[in-house]
Amino acid sequence: MVNLFDPIQLGDITCANRIFMAPMTRSRAGDGDAPTDMNALYYAQRAGAGLIITEGVYPSIDGKGYVRTPGIVTEEQISGWTRVTEAVHAKGGKIVMQLMHCGRIASYHNKPKGARTLAPSAVKAKGELFTDAAGMAPFDIPEEMSASDITQTIDDFGHAAKNAMAAGCDGIELHCTSGYLPAQFLSTGTNQRSDKYGGSLENRLRFVLETLDRMVQTIGAGRVGLRICPGNPFNDLSDDDPEETFEGLIKAINPMGLAYLHVIRMKAGVDNIALAKQFNGPVILNDSYDLERGNRALAAQQGDAISFGRAFIANPDLVGVFKAGAELKQPDYKTLYTPGPKGYVDYD
Ligand SMILES: Cc1cc2nc3c(=O)[nH]c(=O)nc-3n(C[C@H](O)[C@H](O)[C@H](O)COP(=O)(O)O)c2cc1C
Repeated sequence: MVNLFDPIQLGDITCANRIFMAPMTRSRAGDGDAPTDMNALYYAQRAGAGLIITEGVYPSIDGKGYVRTPGIVTEEQISGWTRVTEAVHAKGGKIVMQLMHCGRIASYHNKPKGARTLAPSAVKAKGELFTDAAGMAPFDIPEEMSASDITQTIDDFGHAAKNAMAAGCDGIELHCTSGYLPAQFLSTGTNQRSDKYGGSLENRLRFVLETLDRMVQTIGAGRVGLRICPGNPFNDLSDDDPEETFEGLIKAINPMGLAYLHVIRMKAGVDNIALAKQFNGPVILNDSYDLERGNRALAAQQGDAISFGRAFIANPDLVGVFKAGAELKQPDYKTLYTPGPKGYVDYD
């Protein structure tokens, strides 16, 4: 029977174990939103993971939403990420970059002048986010994307995938949950368009499918993963029928041969583990697993690997901690998103 310490092949990516690091925004990018030596050290400390999935990285400046988050657009950003991937590979790790376009979950305070806040429809999200310039600020009222904005954004995802590979990543993951742009297109609450990108299920799926297709054409299906969480209401997201939406999505991506599907389970509502079974490739499960629950999920064939978020913050050598049967350290929640090394690279 397989367990979390066993290796696994995800498309073209060979992973030494099934204990993956979940994507986590830590708001510590350097000048020009480029990764620094400190970011490289943080990821290298966690290179024992079978696969590191990076924090959300913006594919275009319009896709930036949060404070101090990195991009994969400029030469400076590509060379910053190259330092990260070299540090991870030097320790035998594997790393895929999560591409995250925030869409309407953004504040202009967190972006340079001229960057836009875009969404399928001009529907503002309820809630606030942190900015360095103005403290907590409401989400921007987004601009409804024109047909050419959509074309441009899909191009941006293609370039970002290419840049991630130029920076030495082993692949990319499209962030398609938690209320960000791809999820905004899928969901009826945020997508009120009447063109071919809105309305029917087929139309609401179109942006995500065209984006995935572009990334697959650019870097190959065996290096492209997708992260979903059907029914997730985070960031004011709502959909009339998330089961139908995601069944449709999974059916449509099955012929693509993606490297993996990364599924966050829901504690109530949609049974995402059952939905994930409809995917015909490797499945990574997430949210609130530990070693025992993870191994049980693998034994029950609910998924093929587990990603761990919070556990990797305070336990950089999580695989070693699990092997030793040692107690997990708890992260300091006050320093999740604060600049500097404290609560970032000072766990051992
Ligand atoms: C500090 C922090 C930042 C996060 N940032 C991201 C992100 O950038 N992209 C993403 O898909 N999920 C993000 N998440 C969600 C995690 O990937 C994961 O789903 C969550 O922590 C639950 O897994 P866990 O129980 O193992 O911690 C973040 C979570 C935390 C705690």
